[in-house]
Amino acid sequence: MATIAIYLAVACVVASTIFFIRSRLRRCTIPGPKGWPFVGIYPSLGHEIFKDFAKLSKKYGDIYSCRLCTADAIVINKYEIVDDLFRKRQGTFNDRFIKLPDTLDIPIGFGELHYGDKWKEMRSFTINVLNNQNLGDRTFEDLLNEEVSHFRNYVINSHGQKAFKPKRALLHCMGNILLTLVFRKRMDYKDSEMNNYTDAAHNLAQCLDPFVFFGVPSVLQILGRFNIIPIKKLRLSQLALDKIATECHAEIATHQKVKTLDGSRDFVDVFLEEVDSKKEKNTKTFLTENTLKGIASNLFAAGLDSTATMLIWFVLLLTKHQDVQKKLREEVDAVIGRDRLPTLKDRDSMNYVKALMQEAHRFVSVAPMGMFHMSATDAEWQGYFIPKGTYLIANYWGMHHDERLFPKPSEFNPERFLNESGEFVKSKYVTPYGIGKRICPGEVLAQRELFLFVTQLVQTFNMQPPEGVDAKNMNSDGVYDGVGFFPPEFEARFLPL
Ligand code: HEM
Repeated sequence: MATIAIYLAVACVVASTIFFIRSRLRRCTIPGPKGWPFVGIYPSLGHEIFKDFAKLSKKYGDIYSCRLCTADAIVINKYEIVDDLFRKRQGTFNDRFIKLPDTLDIPIGFGELHYGDKWKEMRSFTINVLNNQNLGDRTFEDLLNEEVSHFRNYVINSHGQKAFKPKRALLHCMGNILLTLVFRKRMDYKDSEMNNYTDAAHNLAQCLDPFVFFGVPSVLQILGRFNIIPIKKLRLSQLALDKIATECHAEIATHQKVKTLDGSRDFVDVFLEEVDSKKEKNTKTFLTENTLKGIASNLFAAGLDSTATMLIWFVLLLTKHQDVQKKLREEVDAVIGRDRLPTLKDRDSMNYVKALMQEAHRFVSVAPMGMFHMSATDAEWQGYFIPKGTYLIANYWGMHHDERLFPKPSEFNPERFLNESGEFVKSKYVTPYGIGKRICPGEVLAQRELFLFVTQLVQTFNMQPPEGVDAKNMNSDGVYDGVGFFPPEFEARFLPL
């Protein structure tokens, strides 16, 4: 027994030494903080890792490399460099970390798939459907405005003029919009089934937590994913994926049995039509029932929590900054009035709302480091060596709070994006949806949702803090969890206008 223990100990020491020497020899040569052997700078990082990354960039520059426990990483704090690596260099720096072979037909969405033909086909199909929603007789505005009116009725009937925490109801709204687009169904605000979706989406977003990621070697992550070892966040993410995949399976079966008669179409209808048409034409395709499950998981995981969280941030910021809410309402009154609902076309003539949207995205940075990329091959950048498998972290929060670009970055001030004539000035440096080849495929959808929702909210309600609370004193310090930067819990009163 003692001999086995000695052999094992020697084997461990030899394996660790080989691992250590190999990682030293194949190191990224971009300079950066040294950190400790094996763990690198990981133990010195605080919970809001992106703030520490921004601090380190003051010392080491706009791009630096570092070791984060099990991984080598490059942290980038400047738009031009991210643009160079993520857009101009084709696929080299656009891989993801999950390395499952394409032939394994299990439900993996394109969000976690590595850069290649399968990712391209799934992604371009999804963008096409999301951006050109053909909802039959209804327009996207109809769908959204209808959901806001459900929200309005819910607020008035359930809370009257009393302050309440709007988070759940707003998550529910966004959940219904996605459910309608993907599965052509919506749920009542009292239906607790919706919590399963919103919780599933939140759990999935949470498991991309960099601390789980870098702290747990990838073999353990895979074991955790299949519940061989219990890692809470990974276990939750598996439950979430299973929930969405099961739902998707049931919906596909229903859609195949019952053809729509009223001309309304959803994501599943369009997907099944595409698969049939490819079969008829004998065209090679990666689109199968499993890829549909993967895409649906992506849409809920990446699209629900992010957009809903941003909407909740808008409600908090407009309640806290009453002057901003007033200016926004003045513009809504001038351009849309109170007798009709907003349309997407109105956006063209609304400078203040565009400045507000850009400033809120900058100030909040709801996905502070986007989703990490990985280098697909050994590569070179400006004479430096970057080994295959290096993580690339674009610090969007850091870029959005860079005082060289945005003076007084911690002040929330939509006016910074208006010129002297009051016209909106678009900034290429505000990039909440990412940069380059893997830029968020839901950007157009999210921007449409947020515009219609926010304008209708100020057209319908005067949002006020709870009685006795000074709006200016409302806490607006974000809480970082997983991939998202969430608003703190707050209460507001929605007074009908
Ligand atoms: C405020 C709302 C949103 C924000 C701020 C946001 C932000 C982002 C960011 C930063 C990325 C990573 C980009 C990269 O890796 O370079 C991303 C990826 C992604 N987003 Fe969004 N997103 C939002 C809404 C949505 C919506 C509505 C959907 C779909 C319904 C969606 C689906 C996805 C998917 C599938 C990916 C992975 C893309 C890929 O790997 O090719 N997102 N998003």
